[in-house]
Amino acid sequence: MLHTIKMTVNGELVKAEVFSQMRLLDFLREELDLIGAKEGCGKGECGACTVLVDGEPVNSCLMLAVEADGKEVLTVEGLGEGDRLDAIQQSIVDNSALQCGYCTPGIVMSAKGLLLRNTNPTRDEVVEAISGNLCRCTGYARVIDAIMQVSASSDSQDEGSER
Ligand code: FES
Ligand code: FES
Repeated sequence: MLHTIKMTVNGELVKAEVFSQMRLLDFLREELDLIGAKEGCGKGECGACTVLVDGEPVNSCLMLAVEADGKEVLTVEGLGEGDRLDAIQQSIVDNSALQCGYCTPGIVMSAKGLLLRNTNPTRDEVVEAISGNLCRCTGYARVIDAIMQVSASSDSQDEGSER
């Protein structure tokens, strides 16, 4: 069955017709060409598909597109401005906190969700925030350092790197 949905994606109003069973992840990747959110496990275990919905990190592989109707969706493509990376992205780069990068958009969005609600998290809170994001290459120490550096120097509005 087709449904008409409307949502804001990265600040732009999107209206579309989708089948009931279409996942938000597929809607973003296949219908909107926003391929930053990745499919890892497809069952809520790896966090590679993390996006923000109304400011909260969600696994977009577990959410239907129709469930995002009327909501505000932010993907990794919506961060930064032009060529300027978001502060979290820049800090990940500066700290060499990635290797293959498959997990990175999801980690960035989980961190973004944390910093939107808590501008000065503890290290434990950062660990908790990314606990649903699995990385098979880099490990987590540098990732946590990168997020901590942003939280220490930013008001989380991420108008670019503020380090
Ligand atoms: S692909 Fe969604 S949690 Fe792994
Ligand atoms: S950098 Fe490769 S999975 Fe995290």
